[in-house]
Amino acid sequence: MTDLVPAPIDAKAMGTALPRVDGVEKVTGSAAYAVEHPVPRPLACWLVQSTIARGRVVSVDRSAALAHPGVLSVVDHTDAPRLAETDNGELAILQDDRIGFRGQIVALVLAESSEAAREGARLVRVEQQEEPAEAELREDNATYRPEKVNPSMETDTETGDVDTALAGADVVLEQTYRTPYEHNNPLEPHATTAWWGEEDGRDRLTLYDSSQGVHGVATALAPMLGMEKEQVRVMAPYVGGGFGSKGEAHAHVMAAALAARTTGGRPVRLAVTRQQMFALTGYRTATISKFRLGADRDGRLAAIEHGVLEQTSRLREFAEQTASSTRMMYAAPNRRTSHRLAVLDVAVPSWMRAPGEMPGMYAHEVAMDELAEACGLDPVELRRRNEPDLDPEKGLPFDRRGLLECLDRGAARFGWAGRPREPRSTRDGEWWVGTGAASATYPAMRQPGNVARIESLPDARYAVSIGSVDIGTGARTALTQIAADALSVGPDAIDLHLGDTALPPASVAGGSSGTSSWGSAIVAAAQQFRTEHGHRPAPGLRTEAGAERGDEAERFSFHSFGAVFAEVRVHRDTGELRVPRLLGVYSVGRVVNPMTARSQLVGGLVMGMSAALFEESVRDPRFGHVVTQDLATYHIAAHADVTGVEAEWLDESTTTFTPMGSRGIGEIGIVGTAAAVANAAYHATGIRVRDLPLTADAYVG
Ligand code: MOS
Repeated sequence: MTDLVPAPIDAKAMGTALPRVDGVEKVTGSAAYAVEHPVPRPLACWLVQSTIARGRVVSVDRSAALAHPGVLSVVDHTDAPRLAETDNGELAILQDDRIGFRGQIVALVLAESSEAAREGARLVRVEQQEEPAEAELREDNATYRPEKVNPSMETDTETGDVDTALAGADVVLEQTYRTPYEHNNPLEPHATTAWWGEEDGRDRLTLYDSSQGVHGVATALAPMLGMEKEQVRVMAPYVGGGFGSKGEAHAHVMAAALAARTTGGRPVRLAVTRQQMFALTGYRTATISKFRLGADRDGRLAAIEHGVLEQTSRLREFAEQTASSTRMMYAAPNRRTSHRLAVLDVAVPSWMRAPGEMPGMYAHEVAMDELAEACGLDPVELRRRNEPDLDPEKGLPFDRRGLLECLDRGAARFGWAGRPREPRSTRDGEWWVGTGAASATYPAMRQPGNVARIESLPDARYAVSIGSVDIGTGARTALTQIAADALSVGPDAIDLHLGDTALPPASVAGGSSGTSSWGSAIVAAAQQFRTEHGHRPAPGLRTEAGAERGDEAERFSFHSFGAVFAEVRVHRDTGELRVPRLLGVYSVGRVVNPMTARSQLVGGLVMGMSAALFEESVRDPRFGHVVTQDLATYHIAAHADVTGVEAEWLDESTTTFTPMGSRGIGEIGIVGTAAAVANAAYHATGIRVRDLPLTADAYVG
């Protein structure tokens, strides 16, 4: 195994709309998902969950469950296999009698069928002793200062003197913006098949898991189970979406592993229900963003302050980096950002598409819209006037800062010119009509530790292997194109293998870093293979390599950018909101596959619109659990809501960041989109709503 800095590759297969290489398997149903793989004599596992937010399990009465003819066993904290490590309070289930949130796993039921397991779980009687709990984020309880925010960013930053700059500013905007709890709802709910065996005299755990990162799951589980990572094999050949909720193993994965430990080798299938996902598989924290902007009369920012209040769980810390994009977005000599958390008796918050950037840029881009109005400026012009020469935080030039080009191209395509300055000035029948704009940004990330394997096959074909996961994004297809160009062959000559820890290590499908991270390793391995074996290799030759970084991160700041334009119609009498047009224009580097990339960007835009109009996980304040725990009550944008969503991108091919020229596309589509919709709703009605979602009641009366 070697590491090398891969040289840029020319695009031949890259840039073409190659249909998904796994499309036939998916549409014919032969692609097996986590609980669909044939395994011998599987048992079904069902979860029993706590019904109090904090306290302890007094007793678990199994008798009625065990009397059910299909039920085999019940496992609780008194007899669950012991873990070697319990630091991860989310994963360390059934190790003691403590209850940390309502919905936590307190027992497992194993049965011959999923129906029997579910009925058995209903028959288990859990006596709980309740203790006073705190489950709701407020401005006055978010006082804990985390050491770092996700993934390892500074908690607070301070440059210059914000207070003095605000005192001397011509225009000061001070406002608070709130975003709600939101839940990822990938089409395929979380699911795991697990079984134990032996290999070379050592325990061996095998999982089919619906995961964004098989190596990450093995790395998280193995030490907790007292094993080496190599003793845990995780496979995820197909995954029905994740958006971050499958970025790390959640408690149900450990539940499946522990349950399977008790069955004498029989495999266990555990399928999390849609309702259980609202308690067990992560969510986006609610956020409160307190903004202060100070500008001169021409709209040039002198001060930006963004103080974030949000929440974490007492079981395990997750601190969302909500102010991170504020640090680099606009030029202002005086800047201050901070994050404070309420530590609550709730489920552990986690990643949801653009954690940090999504809620943070929502607040920032609505604040900019308000500042534009206060300065009497067009909102696009305000952004132009605050365009920095260098990354304000790092002091480095941007490798590519395509924001103004995105704004200009988007404005032209959308028909922004001639937009009435005054809000509430256009009506079409019963509908107020308005337009709004917002900027988007997302950091370009390349994860370390990725290794790819190239093997020559007969007939001038190549097997290309990397232990990454295609969660439905089209990664398998894009990586095939990258491998083809890196080896100077057609995509037909590539057999791509992924989704298995038996393949070389790969980072998570997260942070929009997959293509950049895995693709760079594939290019490095391909170039190393050519160096070692030439262009006409005999079959059976193998090379493994990872991609070393050069010094580019010391010379440049790497970000993607975008501009989002929305048209919103608000019904005069009911306040109903419609979004007939939504356009995103992006600077994301080279687009490897325009078909799958468009799906990613449009999907992000739809999810941002969904956040603007609908999404909110409503809690029961007594217990902190989510009551809107299904798709009938947790509303997401559906087909009828998506009428005119379009995405396009600038033609770019800078290869400073990756040898492919790509920068990542998974998350930027959701960033700024809710702000564009909110700004358009304001422009339509003259009513400024600062808290998401933008519900109809706010726009009437
Ligand atoms: Mo994405 S929230 O980084 O999986």
